[in-house]
Amino acid sequence: MSLNLGILASGSGSNLQAIVDACERGDVVARVKVVISDKAGAYALERARAKGIAAVHINPKEFSGKEFFEAEIVRVLQLHEVELVCLAGYMRLVGDKLLGAFPQRVMNIHPALLPAFPGLHGQQQAFDYGVRFSGCTVHFVDHGMDTGPIILQAVVPVLTDDTAESLAARILEQEHKIYPQAIQLYAEGRLRVVGRKVIVAGS
Ligand code: GRF
Repeated sequence: MSLNLGILASGSGSNLQAIVDACERGDVVARVKVVISDKAGAYALERARAKGIAAVHINPKEFSGKEFFEAEIVRVLQLHEVELVCLAGYMRLVGDKLLGAFPQRVMNIHPALLPAFPGLHGQQQAFDYGVRFSGCTVHFVDHGMDTGPIILQAVVPVLTDDTAESLAARILEQEHKIYPQAIQLYAEGRLRVVGRKVIVAGS
C-alpha cells in the first residue's frame, strides 16, 4: 500500500517536484494526493497541475484567524485521505489545528544544519556567520520554529569562492535527496520518535 502525501508549499516547489519524481521512480512508495498553497501564484501549484495532482489555493485572508485557516487545510487534507503532511517551502508557522489533526505526521525541510540557523534564509545566515559547513535538515514539526525532532541531515561544505546563492544551490541539491529518503523511511514504518530523538529502525 502506498502512503498518501499532502504537500504544503508557498513558493517554487522544487522539493515538491523532487518528491513527485521520487514517487514516480518508485524510490518512494507514496503518492502526492494534494498540494496546498497559501499563495495563489505559487509555482508549486503549477507543478502539481502539470502532474495531474489536485492543486488547491487556500487564502489565509479569507479566514478570521489561523485556527479557521488551518481547519480548512485539514479539511482538504482529510478529503484527499492524506496520511503524511510534508511542508516544502511553506512559509508559515504551523499551529495547533494542523498538528492536532496530524500528530507526528508533519515533516519539514530546512536549509541549514539545525539547531543552527532556524527561521528565514538559513543559507544566508550560515554564509554570513562564516561556518565551514552547512547543509539541510528534515525534521518532524512541533510548535516551535524549526525545532522538532531531526530525521535526516546532509552536510554541505562552504567553499572559498561561494556566495550565499551558490551555497544555497548546493544545499538545495541535497534537500532534493534527503527529503524523499526521509519520506521513504516513514513509508516503511521505520521512524519512531522518542523524546527529542528519532530512532531509525535498521540503520
Ligand atoms: C527550501 O530551501 C526549503 O529548505 C525551505 O524553503 C525552500 C523551498 O524551496 N524550507 P522549494 O519551494 O522547494 O523550491
